[in-house]
Amino acid sequence: MTLRFQSRTALVTGGASGIGAATARLLAGEGARVTIVDLESSSGAEVAAGIGGHFHAADLSDMAAAEAMVHDLLAREGRLDILVNNAGIGSLGEVPDLDPAQWRKVMAVDLDAVYHACRVAVPAMRAAFRAEGRGGVIVNTASLSGLAADYGFAVYNVAKAAVINLSRVLAIDHGKDGIRVNALCPGLIDTPLAAPLAAIPGLMEKWTRAIPLGRAGRAEEMAEVIAFLASDAASYITGSVIVADGGAGAHTGQPNFMAEIAALQPG
Ligand SMILES: NC(=O)c1ccc[n+]([C@@H]2O[C@H](COP(=O)([O-])OP(=O)(O)OC[C@H]3O[C@@H](n4cnc5c(N)ncnc54)[C@H](O)[C@@H]3O)[C@@H](O)[C@H]2O)c1
Repeated sequence: MTLRFQSRTALVTGGASGIGAATARLLAGEGARVTIVDLESSSGAEVAAGIGGHFHAADLSDMAAAEAMVHDLLAREGRLDILVNNAGIGSLGEVPDLDPAQWRKVMAVDLDAVYHACRVAVPAMRAAFRAEGRGGVIVNTASLSGLAADYGFAVYNVAKAAVINLSRVLAIDHGKDGIRVNALCPGLIDTPLAAPLAAIPGLMEKWTRAIPLGRAGRAEEMAEVIAFLASDAASYITGSVIVADGGAGAHTGQPNFMAEIAALQPG
């Protein structure tokens, strides 16, 4: 059986945990040489060791550190075929209450880091395409929260919306360079990122009731979508926004009319 990512080199940011770790494992399991980048050194190194990959510690909100991560990989591997910009942090707060430092931090980690990595990755992929006809693939983990607004998620909503349009920008500018770029928009996924909200009594029951599939997604389910987008099976998909949310975003937000009518019936 041919492995989907045999002889491909992949870089997964935020690979120490959740969606990134699941993606790193899946890509490596299908033949990719994977480098994991994360702030979290011990878990990042552990995931990397488990898949025979490489771990690079970096705070991707820092432009020099993020650029160095790509330069380091290129020096080690000689090429970068798949870039998964996945590291991210959540944020609660309405606009007037948000401390400017919190605003800047979330924008730096969730949005700027993607720009930082692409500043080096795109020219390298373009050069590879010109030299040997093989460009590269970029998958950016955005969010359902980038497609509409949530109560009290202000800066996260803004950053993720920008990641979606940055993905489109990169796709149209660099299609000619053999580079495909797509955004994944997960809904609620059971990872440490969602844990603080999961700890609010009763919230998860309410949240999952609003999801047509009736449950949170798993990191492994997101990894499958990322792997598909990174694979040759998605060779004509670029500039797309792929939603994987258990159906949550399909709802207009209007009441369940049938349920309301049924509740009025006697007995
Ligand atoms: N879990 C969800 O419900 C959900 C929903 C939609 C989108 N997402 C997005 O999915 C992506 C992955 O999140 P997850 O749910 O797997 O969460 P997670 O917390 O399990 O993983 C995120 C990883 O990013 C790393 N990270 C954070 N800041 C960093 C920085 N400055 N530099 C380098 N690494 C950094 C963390 O250390 C962590 O390992 C994020 O972009 C998140 O916004 C998650």
